[in-house]
Amino acid sequence: MKTRAWAKLNLTLDVLGKREDGYHDLCMVMQSVTLHDTLTLEPNEGQGLRVKTNLRFLPTGDKNLAAIAALRFWEALGREPEHLDIEIEKRIPVCAGMAGGSSDAAAVLRALNEQAGFPFTPTELAKVGEKVGSDVPYCVLGGTALAEGRGEVLTPLPALPPCWVVACKPDFPISTPELFARIDSCKIRCRPDTAGMLEALKAGSLEEVARRMYNVFEDVLPERYQARVAEIKHVLIQKGALGANMSGTGPTAFGLFDSEEAAREAQAALQEGYRDTFLCRSV
Ligand code: C5P
Repeated sequence: MKTRAWAKLNLTLDVLGKREDGYHDLCMVMQSVTLHDTLTLEPNEGQGLRVKTNLRFLPTGDKNLAAIAALRFWEALGREPEHLDIEIEKRIPVCAGMAGGSSDAAAVLRALNEQAGFPFTPTELAKVGEKVGSDVPYCVLGGTALAEGRGEVLTPLPALPPCWVVACKPDFPISTPELFARIDSCKIRCRPDTAGMLEALKAGSLEEVARRMYNVFEDVLPERYQARVAEIKHVLIQKGALGANMSGTGPTAFGLFDSEEAAREAQAALQEGYRDTFLCRSV
């Protein structure tokens, strides 16, 4: 069975505070896009659960989120683990703020649920995803959604108006736990207007959505990284993006375009310096 795992982008990201369980309460407007990994799930002859990817440095065994998702799925069904090969063709950049690993995990949950004859509703499946990672419940449902709590409290939103998206990942690593620690140690000066973003989506105005994009993590990036993300956003805007934002804990920055031609020009300009530059659409 072949299935797709869509990348996610943050139209907004706000960190409301640290919780007693060590996680943070978040408030985010999420959007899935056509950039995707492709997963192939096939039963094997008594070899257990195996995960293989086209990127050598990724975990292959049950440390891979895709394998953890399969184990949690069978556990929730009250079944023994099956003998299954999961092959992942990665396209979504790793450690990019686009939920690549969580999205693969969500795709496994959806595929196994389908194979089993849909024992879980999408909401129940998202609940199984909570045990795999904070972004997995959103990735199970996809689309345009408000994510609160740890990321697992989801409210579907009116779809992002049709547009072209150019996403660009600079080549430096960001540690998610480190960025959360940095945000704990400083005062957040500026926050997204989430209510305004919800209004803009309801009104179906791409311009208003693009104008309201904001991510609190951008302010707490180490300075040298902040400058690089700002530079990418600058190119996107110069090339005609209606707005640009960093996704998740970065470092991917993306722009929303109402013109395919402008989006293609932005992609071409950024591709000169950044291999991981993608043109995609919302899904
Ligand atoms: O849930 P997940 O394993 O994807 O989270 C990775 C890390 O991100 C956590 O260990 C934590 O440091 C941070 N995190 C957080 N609050 C959230 C989500 C993630 O502090 N709501």
